[in-house]
Formats: sequence, C-alpha cells, structure tokens
Amino acid sequence: MPLPTPTLHTDRLRLRPFTEADADALFALHSKAHVLRYWDSPPWGDRARAERFVVTCRQLADEGTGARLAIDRVSDGAFIGWCSFARWNPDFRSAGLGYILDDAAWGQGYATEAAHAVLRWAYETLDLNRVQAEVDTRNAASARVLEKLGFLREGTMREDCVVNGDVSDSWVYGLLRRDWRPSPEKALAAREGRC
Ligand SMILES: CC(C)(COP(=O)(O)OP(=O)(O)OC[C@H]1O[C@@H](n2cnc3c(N)ncnc32)[C@H](O)[C@@H]1OP(=O)(O)O)[C@@H](O)C(=O)NCCC(=O)NCCS
Repeated sequence: MPLPTPTLHTDRLRLRPFTEADADALFALHSKAHVLRYWDSPPWGDRARAERFVVTCRQLADEGTGARLAIDRVSDGAFIGWCSFARWNPDFRSAGLGYILDDAAWGQGYATEAAHAVLRWAYETLDLNRVQAEVDTRNAASARVLEKLGFLREGTMREDCVVNGDVSDSWVYGLLRRDWRPSPEKALAAREGRC
C-alpha cells in the first residue's frame, strides 16, 4: 500500500517530500566528506546520484516502504538536510530512522526537532511499534540525538560497515511505542528514569 510522504511543520522547520529542484543542494550536502565521515556510504562524486535519490524517494512512497523528508529552515527557507523513516514493515510493525544535516546547521537542535516530528507522524499515523537506528560508535552527536528522542542503546554490531576500507562498529538503538513521548524533553526524562 502506498505511503504518501507527508509535509510536517515544527517551530523552526518544514519537512516535505523531495522534488527534482532539490538535486543541487542534495548533491552539495552529500559531497562533503566531513559530513559523511560516519555515514554508511562514501561521499557522492556524481550529481546523477542526487537525481536517482529523488526517484527512489518516489518509489519508496509508491511501495509504501518508507518516507524521506527534505528539511527546510523556516526562517530563511534554506534546505538544511533530510530525515528518513525507512524499512517500514507493517507485519513486524517496525521501521528505521535516519537523518543528515549540513554542517552549518549542526548544534542547534535541528536534527532532534526534525526526527521528533517524523516519529510523531509515524506513531500517530501508522500501527508502528518499534523504530531502530544504527549509529557509528564514533558518532557521539547522533547517539545523543537518539537518546534525546528516548531511544535505548541495545547493543553493538562489530565491524558493521566498511566504507572505503574504513571498518567501523555500529550501535543499535531502539524506540518502542510504549516509550515514545510527545516531546523530546519528556522522552529524555523518561529514558533517564529507566536507566
Ligand atoms: C548527527 C547530526 C544529525 C546531529 O545534528 P544536530 O542538529 O547537530 O543535532 P542536535 O543539535 O539536535 O543534537 C546534537 C546533540 O549532540 C551533542 N553533541 C554534538 N557533538 C558531540 C560530541 N562530539 N560528543 C558528544 N555530544 C555531542 C550536542 O551537544 C547535542 O546534545 P545536547 O542538546 O544535549 O547538547 C549531524 O551532526 C549530522 O548530520 N551529521 C552527519 C550525518 C550523520 O552522521 N547522520 C547520522 C547517521 S546515524
């Protein structure tokens, strides 16, 4: 069943479906080695990758297997990154979460705000139980984002990724519906109460 990619609004962000017009900004983002240093694939060297990405976004929506949302900053309309609801499996009631922001936008709470909006949409719209995210164990900022959202670290996958010969371990994080909270502040407080 198709899963139309929603448009979501937060205080500072607008999350929306990708269009062909995003290809240049998307390519610029995914070309930055510094931004991609803990990503599970190398930086892009070819703009056609961005065009294929946009096509795949539509396929995911048509197949109903996920949603990739472009993130615009409301104050200036700038594209600052994207967030994905991935691997949606209605039988298992599970999905994955991912996000990437341009380095100029880091450290302002945008990733947490965007991912929280996607989780809210998913938990309120779908019969979703579990959301999983995998994080390079060197990626402290991303681990912190997940913890602020209420995710628990469940384990380590040793030598999970090999990117350009660089072998890395990944942490697995999980969030269950019963641990989902309608605000990041409540999620963090509830999580710390459980630890
Ligand atoms: C990971 C990423 C999405 C974080 O985006 P962001 O908008 O800066 O995240 P937020 O501001 O919402 O939260 C970041 C948190 O990590 C903390 N942090 C940042 N760098 C850190 C570090 N080196 N060590 C520990 N904590 C760190 C911040 O202080 C903040 O926590 P706080 O609110 O408790 O102070 C961003 O760095 C990014 O896009 N990286 C490249 C792509 C990537 O790695 N994606 C994740 C793949 S799993």
